[in-house]
Amino acid sequence: MNEIERLKRQAAERAVEFIEDGMVLGLGSGSTVRHVLEILAERRKQGALRNVVGIPTSRATEWYARDLGLRLTALEEEPRIDLTIDGADEVDPRLNLIKGIGGALLWEKIVATNSERLIIVADEGKLVHKLGERVPLPLEVVPFGWTTQLSWLDHMGAESVLRLAANGSPFVSDGGHYVIDCHFKDGIAEPGRVQREVRQHPGVVECGLFLGMADAVVIGGVDGPRVVHADVEPR
Ligand code: A5P
Repeated sequence: MNEIERLKRQAAERAVEFIEDGMVLGLGSGSTVRHVLEILAERRKQGALRNVVGIPTSRATEWYARDLGLRLTALEEEPRIDLTIDGADEVDPRLNLIKGIGGALLWEKIVATNSERLIIVADEGKLVHKLGERVPLPLEVVPFGWTTQLSWLDHMGAESVLRLAANGSPFVSDGGHYVIDCHFKDGIAEPGRVQREVRQHPGVVECGLFLGMADAVVIGGVDGPRVVHADVEPR
């Protein structure tokens, strides 16, 4: 396991401690969450956390969790989630996030919105001063008329590109949408304003800004995992 994977694993180990028997658990997406799923499956084999049932935020998570033998349900069956554990692509000092580099942002946001608590697992390389510093902001858009989004986003100060799959065709999310990646030079100055404006624009389904949603972030770092809660002073 390389160093980054070791840090992700460490964060995942710590995050699993927040899971309690009988919980309805939102299962995020991405490589860090895969560690969470593996550890959860190990705990279950040891006889712990038997009555936990998961709601996946992507097909990839659903398939991985099924392979591990985890019990799954759907939001339609269990509309109230006790805890969601998910990854992030960037975390700012106020625990605002960019998510969606894996393309699962819409389902992740629906699950997070319906969760009592959202805990993020990330290695310390995800920490930024300003959102948009390292990664583009992903937008999920309806395929109809998607090219019109690009010129409009240009006015918003973003250089935007349609995300492509490995075979060169447009990447399609689990919800059947395209993803446009928006690069903001020098990061996103006003994430709240950007979120408001993009969500009001016809054809934009959701954006990867998760503002004020995380209750805590478990950060895997070289000095061990640490938990930062949203209600304490920003670092
Ligand atoms: C998926 O759409 C994303 O929001 C992931 O949660 C995010 O990309 C984190 O993934 P990693 O844990 O693989 O970095």
